[in-house]
Amino acid sequence: EDLGVVAVGFSGGQCKPGVDAAPSALIESGLLTQLRDELLYKLHGDDTVHQYTDLVPHDDPPYRSMKNPRAVSSVTRRIADQVYSHAKEGRMVLTLGGDHSIAIGTIAGTAKAMRERLGGREMAVIWVDAHADINTPESSGSGNIHGMPVSFLTGLAKEDNEEFFGWLQPENLISVKKLVYIGLRDVDIGEKQILRQHGIKAFSMHDIDRHGIGRVMEMALGHIGADTPIHLSFDVDALDPMWAPSTGTPVRGGLTLREGDYICECVHETGSLVAIDLVEVNPSLAPATDIGAHETVRAGCSLIRCALGESLL
Ligand code: ARG
Ligand code: MN
Ligand code: MN
Ligand code: MN
Repeated sequence: EDLGVVAVGFSGGQCKPGVDAAPSALIESGLLTQLRDELLYKLHGDDTVHQYTDLVPHDDPPYRSMKNPRAVSSVTRRIADQVYSHAKEGRMVLTLGGDHSIAIGTIAGTAKAMRERLGGREMAVIWVDAHADINTPESSGSGNIHGMPVSFLTGLAKEDNEEFFGWLQPENLISVKKLVYIGLRDVDIGEKQILRQHGIKAFSMHDIDRHGIGRVMEMALGHIGADTPIHLSFDVDALDPMWAPSTGTPVRGGLTLREGDYICECVHETGSLVAIDLVEVNPSLAPATDIGAHETVRAGCSLIRCALGESLL
């Protein structure tokens, strides 16, 4: 099977340096070699880690309270093109982030390609995260765009100026009805309002405790419905910091590594996976020892292998 790889060393959606080094760390730990040699994927675009420094302006003052708005807008626009061209060729797309703002590009790209491939039908997004990342520029307390991608992708945040995500067209967007969250446990007040107001399907850690991850995945996939293409956007901070300490906004009380892997395995089993993002691995943030970074990278690799069909037996 063909796999398009987009490796994005971009950190402008938040304020901590280091997430830009994640794609190289994941690749150096052998991820792509495993996908090629063990899972037998034919890789495309795996020869470069994009830094997109040419797209980052020297001066990028806030706009509607967003930090680095021009950089994030132009980098995600470029990513959207890359992901779109892979997906249009019928390739599964793996994007290695980078912070979660890059999902504005990845999902914009697959949403458009899927509409074209499936005659206007909409794809679904499974967003695995401690956070909802659905702040609008106005509801955000931080101004960090990695907390806003879902609001732009669902059209809840709107902007006409091309320089600030105005390049997003209706074909790049997804419906709030086709969005499912798993793993939430740190959702801002304004985000809770948005989730409630739009009836967005969300499975918090509370739901996982109550029903178990098996039942939660049944419900999540049931909500999406069979034969709907799925874009899986996995923020490594969904995992408990015990498994993934090296990330910018860790939150205790998260998924075990096995629960994370199980989510990915279930999505693989649907046969409907079209793209996966792995974001927010920050190898320079390793509380206590540097074992943290190594473990976080290892966890990220495991999630990706599971989503791409590594079988247990
Ligand atoms: N909700 C907070 C914010 O808007 C945190 C977002 C964290 N997002 C992430 N992709 N790790 O800033
Ligand atoms: Mn998060
Ligand atoms: Mn996130
Ligand atoms: Mn398979």
